[in-house]
Amino acid sequence: MPGINYQKVLIIDCGSPHAQLIARRVRDLNVYSEVKPYTADLENLKKDNYQALILIGSSAEEESAQEIAKIKQIIPLILDLNLPILTISLSEQILKANPEQKILSFAEQPKFKQTAAEKDLLKKFLFEIAELKADWLIEDFIDNKIAEIKAMVGQSKVIVGLSGGVDSSVAAVLVHRAIGKQLNCIFVDHGLMRKDEGDSVEQIFLNQFDMNFIRVNAEARFLGKLAGITDAEQKRKIIGEEFIRVFEEESQKIDNSDYLVQGTIYPDIIESGAGDGKLIKSHHNVGGLPEDIDFKGIIEPLADLFKDEVRQVGLALGIPADLVWRQPFPGPGLGIRIIGEITKAKADLLRDADAIYRAEIAKAGMDQELSQYFAVLTNLRSVGVKDDARTYDYTLALRAVKTVDFMTAVAAEIPFDLLNKITDRIISEVDGINRIVYDITGKPSATIEWE
Ligand code: XMP
Repeated sequence: MPGINYQKVLIIDCGSPHAQLIARRVRDLNVYSEVKPYTADLENLKKDNYQALILIGSSAEEESAQEIAKIKQIIPLILDLNLPILTISLSEQILKANPEQKILSFAEQPKFKQTAAEKDLLKKFLFEIAELKADWLIEDFIDNKIAEIKAMVGQSKVIVGLSGGVDSSVAAVLVHRAIGKQLNCIFVDHGLMRKDEGDSVEQIFLNQFDMNFIRVNAEARFLGKLAGITDAEQKRKIIGEEFIRVFEEESQKIDNSDYLVQGTIYPDIIESGAGDGKLIKSHHNVGGLPEDIDFKGIIEPLADLFKDEVRQVGLALGIPADLVWRQPFPGPGLGIRIIGEITKAKADLLRDADAIYRAEIAKAGMDQELSQYFAVLTNLRSVGVKDDARTYDYTLALRAVKTVDFMTAVAAEIPFDLLNKITDRIISEVDGINRIVYDITGKPSATIEWE
């Protein structure tokens, strides 16, 4: 929970795909906001001290009669909260349900498209009508969170599993800022990271932040378990289970820890069921909580933050921009980007090719505009020719997508010249690849990853 000082806006989601977006826009205006589904226990929300309410509908065309009926039912409860209300994309039908209503709705009932006019509307509601202060500031959040963690932990020991990803890194640095060497970090390097990534994680946490940091080089152990495995889901399962096992073994070598830090962020909470059931990540949570280690408690310092806020916290704490802006990288790493059996030779080859691809994209200044871009080592070998000799080598696929929510995505239009340049470099610098293809499929029908 945020410190008691912040004013809070409650956003009730009546089936909109934009509820999270609105919550982020409110926070961009430095006002703290929370999203709840219209099915939440509204009576219970009374005691949470909200100062304003935004009701967001799914737009008239999409609401089913059943949904409208359900939403109408909660209108009296909503009015009972006695808050200034802004409604967005809510059908006239619902608003007319209560003729005596005190709902303050803006005439045009905008569908949210992030225009300047809509921002003005939101500002007018928050600052003129609801008379809120812009008091949600990242620096204050950090100070409050540090105080909260100190009070919670006391002299106890705390442990965190680092993945090299943004969320666990920011969580770890924040907790370290609060309790210093009482925090132990365990970084399980499964050998399926991208080129030089393990070293860079070590450099940041050990050298830059001087944290208690243990790197477990478990490449051989993971590859051993994965030998001969070709099924993607089985690979995920093996990597996930092994990850937990290694983490447990290492944590037992440290004196008992009372608390475990997790990099959970606010969208994880909304999307895992506290919201309206848009489950995204269920099968993705590799390397989750080790269930049979007993902790006094879990510390989730980022649980109130959206991803862009996590990044702001990371930058404010001095984490290098490269890490803070890192593109999403799946828990099983290159394990699901090597189609078929995983071997060290294949992983090395993919690492080299992927590093060239990413370097050229960054050099062309495209890295910030792409949501995710990476190379995939297919399991296909085909005939080619090099230095007048016949080759029989792998096909590498390049993927680059643009997406807002990773549920749908479009393939990015990378200029052909750039694709050519990348291809030339990979073919001449990486042995074992003789053919390169660019994946132009969107999601759906293809997923972003190939496995
Ligand atoms: P797909 O391939 O399902 O990916 O379109 C959507 C997003 O999820 C990431 N992804 C994973 N992340 N473990 C993870 O931590 C996984 O097993 C996994 N599979 C996919 C993917 O990189 C993309 O961002």
